[in-house]
Amino acid sequence: MSHFVFLFIISMFINLSQGAQMPYMTTDPKEVSGKSFDYIVVGGGTAGCSLAATLSEKYSVLVIERGGSPFGDPLVEDKKYYGYSLINTDEYSSVAQSFTSVDGIKNHRGRVLGGSSAINGGFYSRASDEFVKKAGWDKDLVQESYKWVESKVVFMPELTRWQSIVQFGFLEAGFYPYNGYSLEHTQGTKIGGSIFDQCGKRHTSADLLGYGKPNCITVLLNATVKSIIFDANKTRAVGVRFMESDGNSSKSYKVHVEQHRGEVILAAGALGSPQILLLSGIGPENHLNDFDIPVIVNLKEVGKQMSDNPAISLLVDRFSQNLTVDPPQVVAITEGFKFILQSLVLPTNITTTRTAISAKIAFPKSKGRLKLNNTNPRENPSVTFNYLENKADLDACQEMVLHLQHVARSKTVTFFLGTQAQDKLVAGDEELKKFCIKNVRTYYHYHGGCVVGSVVNEEYKVNGVKRLRVVDGSTFEESPGTNPMATVLMLGRYQGIKILKEH
Ligand SMILES: Cc1cc2nc3c(=O)[nH]c(=O)nc-3n(C[C@H](O)[C@H](O)[C@H](O)COP(=O)(O)OP(=O)(O)OC[C@H]3O[C@@H](n4cnc5c(N)ncnc54)[C@H](O)[C@@H]3O)c2cc1C
Ligand SMILES: *[C@@H]1O[C@H](CO)[C@@H](O)[C@H](O)[C@H]1NC(C)=O
Ligand SMILES: *[C@@H]1O[C@H](CO)[C@@H](O)[C@H](O)[C@H]1NC(C)=O
Ligand SMILES: *[C@@H]1O[C@H](CO)[C@@H](O)[C@H](O)[C@H]1NC(C)=O
Ligand SMILES: *[C@@H]1O[C@H](CO)[C@@H](O)[C@H](O)[C@H]1NC(C)=O
Ligand SMILES: *[C@@H]1O[C@H](CO)[C@@H](O)[C@H](O)[C@H]1NC(C)=O
Ligand SMILES: *[C@@H]1O[C@H](CO)[C@@H](O)[C@H](O)[C@H]1NC(C)=O
Repeated sequence: MSHFVFLFIISMFINLSQGAQMPYMTTDPKEVSGKSFDYIVVGGGTAGCSLAATLSEKYSVLVIERGGSPFGDPLVEDKKYYGYSLINTDEYSSVAQSFTSVDGIKNHRGRVLGGSSAINGGFYSRASDEFVKKAGWDKDLVQESYKWVESKVVFMPELTRWQSIVQFGFLEAGFYPYNGYSLEHTQGTKIGGSIFDQCGKRHTSADLLGYGKPNCITVLLNATVKSIIFDANKTRAVGVRFMESDGNSSKSYKVHVEQHRGEVILAAGALGSPQILLLSGIGPENHLNDFDIPVIVNLKEVGKQMSDNPAISLLVDRFSQNLTVDPPQVVAITEGFKFILQSLVLPTNITTTRTAISAKIAFPKSKGRLKLNNTNPRENPSVTFNYLENKADLDACQEMVLHLQHVARSKTVTFFLGTQAQDKLVAGDEELKKFCIKNVRTYYHYHGGCVVGSVVNEEYKVNGVKRLRVVDGSTFEESPGTNPMATVLMLGRYQGIKILKEH
């Protein structure tokens, strides 16, 4: 008995001192092939990891991730290398995968355990109460879920010199009140949370797996899911087919969910989840016919309502100052939550950086569409965002450029940078419009494709088939908060708890 108590105390001590245990990870497909699990989570990304950790409290969970491990990778974990993963991408193995939308705008997506939280700016900020209400979520459970995430991977940043300058720039441009450090989505200028800790170490969503129940999570890395397997009646998901990410694509493995309670949950992100549904025969019939994919459910809305917030970046320094790389820590939220401004210093190559002040339109009207380009699950699907196509977006963009110019020309910013680096002032409707069309870019907050109310129902279950859900950024009709990561992390926890309570 005393021996038991002793062990208990020791294990508590280990838990407290190390915080979390590493999940069991393997790259060997044979370790899972032919087995069954209660839940199969496809994509170990931002939502996938918090969801898997939560489900493991009661169930056996398999996470299948196409990329490798983030642990010990300096390109992921070290703030010194923030942004470097985006400048050196390759087709099939880099932690960031680049894609270009049909609009011609360059973009990125994560391809590693931790997903896009392993390559992003790490800025953490909750959604507004209004967003939560509109989503129909339980407010208390949302709070609890945010807090669960925050206690593990969110830190209060120590402002860098440049971020303090930008903060003064925002205030000089009139973005009031000043809210100090806050995780809430409130109008004005504030400092947000960060998944980089004070030592400059990034904590991706993969860290959350360590807070699940030990021995109940298996993580299969370097394995790309090709499609969902259905039962003979094609009414119920029973497992998935996958391949080794760098293996022969005609060699498939299968893994199943437990017959009486198991589910497949897609958490492959705004590009991955609609792509996997389409490859599995769930989508618009005519589109599936183009690729000879047998139709399981003619679900017309799959891949629709794709959206990316149009953004403009004013380059304020082209490397004369050559600041050290700097993820965003401060934001300005303009009146009516219409625009979100922030600033970052990103590398352009191994020796130089660029400093920009950027803004996005928070609620763009223009919508786009995702389609398959081919049936290879390792290739990007083809996606069109139709940036600024809606006149309201183009009008908003002009106003946004004026705000950005105010900040870029504020006393503090110009004094710090020296005036020689200033771009020409853009003014007048025609000039602003042209500037917007020429310079529109991504803020990396793209979402949609499996939107709630059309592709999935309120319980995040895919319409028309049983035991299949989608839980990630593809379910959003609007991007939540200033930046979506906080709410994507929260969503994994929230839906996980909902599922635990179902049974
Ligand atoms: C460069 C960049 C900077 C950003 N900066 C910020 C920021 O500072 N703050 C913020 O709030 N938001 C930021 N975002 C947005 C935010 O990171 C994303 O919205 C969020 O991480 C999306 O989460 P997700 O779970 O939907 O998808 P992801 O996190 O992308 O996860 C999807 C996972 O599924 C895997 N996958 C896909 N297909 C398959 C398949 N067929 N088989 C197996 N696995 C598969 C992928 O490899 C990936 O790990 C940024 C995004 C990017 C790209
Ligand atoms: C898994 O993939 C990563 C990224 O492509 C790679 O670096 C690593 O070597 C792979 N591991 C195995 C065992 O194949
Ligand atoms: C298929 O559907 C029929 C009738 O709906 C049912 O009787 C049968 O059990 C189903 N088979 C399977 C494998 O689910
Ligand atoms: C891939 O696997 C298939 C089936 O196992 C085989 O016929 C084919 O030769 C393999 N291709 C390569 C390049 O190894
Ligand atoms: C980096 O970019 C700058 C500016 O474009 C250029 O002058 C410099 O030569 C580049 N350095 C390397 C190593 O490519
Ligand atoms: C920028 O700074 C880095 C590190 O401080 C240095 O190695 C590099 O040479 C500088 N580049 C330029 C163009 O000044
Ligand atoms: C579609 O795939 C082909 C090759 O299969 C490629 O050349 C093309 O660029 C892709 N198009 C898009 C929009 O991704």
